[in-house]
Amino acid sequence: MRRHRLAPKISYEQIQHRVQELAHQISEDYQGREVVLVGVLKGAFIFMADLVRHLQIPAEVDFIRVASYGNATKSSGRVVLKKDVECPLEGKDVIIVEDIVDSGITLSWLLEHLRERKPRSLKVCALIDKYECREVEVPVDYIGIQIPGGFVVGYGLDFAERYRELQGIYEVVFVDEEDSTS
Ligand code: PRP
Ligand code: MN
Ligand code: MG
Repeated sequence: MRRHRLAPKISYEQIQHRVQELAHQISEDYQGREVVLVGVLKGAFIFMADLVRHLQIPAEVDFIRVASYGNATKSSGRVVLKKDVECPLEGKDVIIVEDIVDSGITLSWLLEHLRERKPRSLKVCALIDKYECREVEVPVDYIGIQIPGGFVVGYGLDFAERYRELQGIYEVVFVDEEDSTS
């Protein structure tokens, strides 16, 4: 693994504050309805757990697992389905819960895949929107925090399966790149 250090980017408190606001917004928009939250594993497991506990509407929870990064910091461009959703989505109000939207490749694949299940509605909630990195246009209905770029870890997000357990979000800074620019 390339030598790197972690620079604090978004604090645990900041994240919690935004997660609560997102949950309130969703609860208002879906008032009187039930939703199915589809969390995208592995990255979204912590965000999903916090989000669902702040919702004020009935919510069913399901997970799908896709991966495209492997151990790299750039998307391979190929989305591999590792585990599909288990509950029926037909006629349901479905919200995809993602930790981060980067190139948009994963989300665009997911939207197409889940639309085939004929949900009544299909929306997206992402904690982090890395808006400068988009390669595919994708709609993100609920956005927690926008960052322009940089590879971030923590709060569910990994670098080669590390750092998912960190409470806050950190930027991975590669030490060799720092050396060459100074
Ligand atoms: C990461 C992240 C998103 C996706 C975003 O998942 O959790 O699902 O990539 O990137 P994109 O917009 O460029 O497609 P990853 O493939 O690393 O799997 P993981 O969630 O198991 O870490
Ligand atoms: Mn993911
Ligand atoms: Mg990952």
